[in-house]
Amino acid sequence: MQRHLGRTCLLYPMPATIVGAMVDGRPNFLAIAHVGILNNAAPQYLTVSLKKFRHTSRGIRESGAFSICLPGKSMAVATDYVGIVSGAKVDKSRVFDVFYGELGNAPMIRECPVNMELKLHQVIDLPAHEVFVGELAGSYAEESCLKEGKVDLEKARPLLFDYSSGWYFSVGEPVAPCWRAGRDYPAQRTEHEGV
Ligand SMILES: Cc1cc2nc3c(=O)[nH]c(=O)nc-3n(C[C@H](O)[C@H](O)[C@H](O)COP(=O)(O)O)c2cc1C
Repeated sequence: MQRHLGRTCLLYPMPATIVGAMVDGRPNFLAIAHVGILNNAAPQYLTVSLKKFRHTSRGIRESGAFSICLPGKSMAVATDYVGIVSGAKVDKSRVFDVFYGELGNAPMIRECPVNMELKLHQVIDLPAHEVFVGELAGSYAEESCLKEGKVDLEKARPLLFDYSSGWYFSVGEPVAPCWRAGRDYPAQRTEHEGV
C-alpha cells in the first residue's frame, strides 16, 4: 500500500558533498547535498544548488570556479561542521588540507577520496536557489581508493545524506551488476518483486 505524502521531495539519499570556492582570496567550503549530473558526455556538466545569498555563492561567481569534493565516511563530523558554520562568520580555510588542480582557483581537499574541479558555465536563477552549472575540468582520487584505475566505492566509502531521518549514511554492499543484471528479465511483472 503506497501512502501519499504530498509534495515532499523524497529523492534521498544524495551524496553529502563538500563544495569549495575562493571567497575574498581564501578557500571556503560548505556542505551541499543537492547536486546533479547534466550532459553525461563531453563536455561534462555538474550542478550544485545553493540557497540564495550563501557566502560561497559570491566566491563561485567572482572566481568562476568551484570544486565538488566527496568526503569519506570518516569525515562526517567535518562535513557537518562546514554545513552549519558560515564563512561569513568563521574562517573555514584551514578546516582541510587544501590543494589545487589545473584551474588553480578551485580549492579541493586532500582528505577526501574524490575531488572534482569545475569551471563555472552558467547560473540558473530559481525562486529560492541558484543552480551553479560547472564544466568538469579535472577529477582526482586518493590512490588507496582506486581499483584498476577507477574509484572503488567500497574503499572510498562516500558519505550519503538522508533528509527524512537527518542522518548521514554510508554506502552498503554491492547488489547486482549494472547493464547486465536486467538482460534476461521477463517483460511481465512478477509477484515477488517490490520493497
Ligand atoms: C548535510 C548538509 C547538506 C547541505 N546541503 C545544502 C544544499 O544542497 N544547498 C545549500 O544551499 N545549503 C546546504 N547546506 C547548508 C550549507 O552547507 C550551510 O548553510 C553552510 O554553513 C553555508 O556556508 P557558507 O555560508 O560558508 O557558504 C547543507 C548542510 C548540510 C549539513
